Amino acid sequence: MQPGYPERLPELLRLLREWIARDGATDFVAHAGDIVDACRPELIREAVSAFRFEVPFYPCLGNHDLTRADARDCWLEGAPQWFAPGSIQFEIVRGDCVVQVVPNHWGETDFWWRDIQSPRFSEAQLARIDRVIARYPDRPHVLCTHSPVLGVSSAQTGLPEAVHVPPEGFRDTVLDLVRRHPQLCCVLSGHNHINTLAEREGSVLVSASAFASAPFEFKVIEVDGNALSVNTYELAAGVGFDADYDLDRAFVQGRPRDRDCTITLDAVST
Ligand SMILES: [Fe+2]
Repeated sequence: MQPGYPERLPELLRLLREWIARDGATDFVAHAGDIVDACRPELIREAVSAFRFEVPFYPCLGNHDLTRADARDCWLEGAPQWFAPGSIQFEIVRGDCVVQVVPNHWGETDFWWRDIQSPRFSEAQLARIDRVIARYPDRPHVLCTHSPVLGVSSAQTGLPEAVHVPPEGFRDTVLDLVRRHPQLCCVLSGHNHINTLAEREGSVLVSASAFASAPFEFKVIEVDGNALSVNTYELAAGVGFDADYDLDRAFVQGRPRDRDCTITLDAVST
């Protein structure tokens, strides 16, 4: 959606590591998917050598990460330290928060993206999300997946209609989850490469711009007993090259309301 500089990823990740070191309060880094263009063992090896942090790194695999029938096995074999033992879906359990990493499926076969982009959660995944919330009912839960839940509004883009609108079925499934579970206070997504942020049913639904595209943004999500905040930062000022930027697509970065927010966690009894 903006000029991309994947060849500059080592420099960008160094800047992010420096930011994390300066901040000193980061528990872990989550990636919302499409780490590689296609699922190949040599690309997974490259990703493992690039995405190194002093804190744990947890990816939620996207469609580009799942381009072969045995993609799940490729990742578990090539990057086992990024996942739970034997599973690319897992929970990050902290004293003040639970992050559920649940990559959505894309077609008829679980965890395999071939041609159509039809995001869905399986019944087993939905049951898993319910089960994890039941296990930690007093903590805020964040769901990290790859497909956005909502389209990008015309108020944000200035275009006549919403764009990148996911299928209604996926949207309704996620809205039903947040409606049924007051603890589920945030849903994080990638895929559309656009910062979006909308509050529904007391939960904030977020999608992120692409890290390797100008102006090289990332989000900081903070959760404490009373509030969840989302803030978007950029690394452009620190890069050692001239990055192009398409001003006609400035909606990718969004308005302040598409980038940052704080919600109170009244419904969660932490
Ligand atoms: Fe994607």
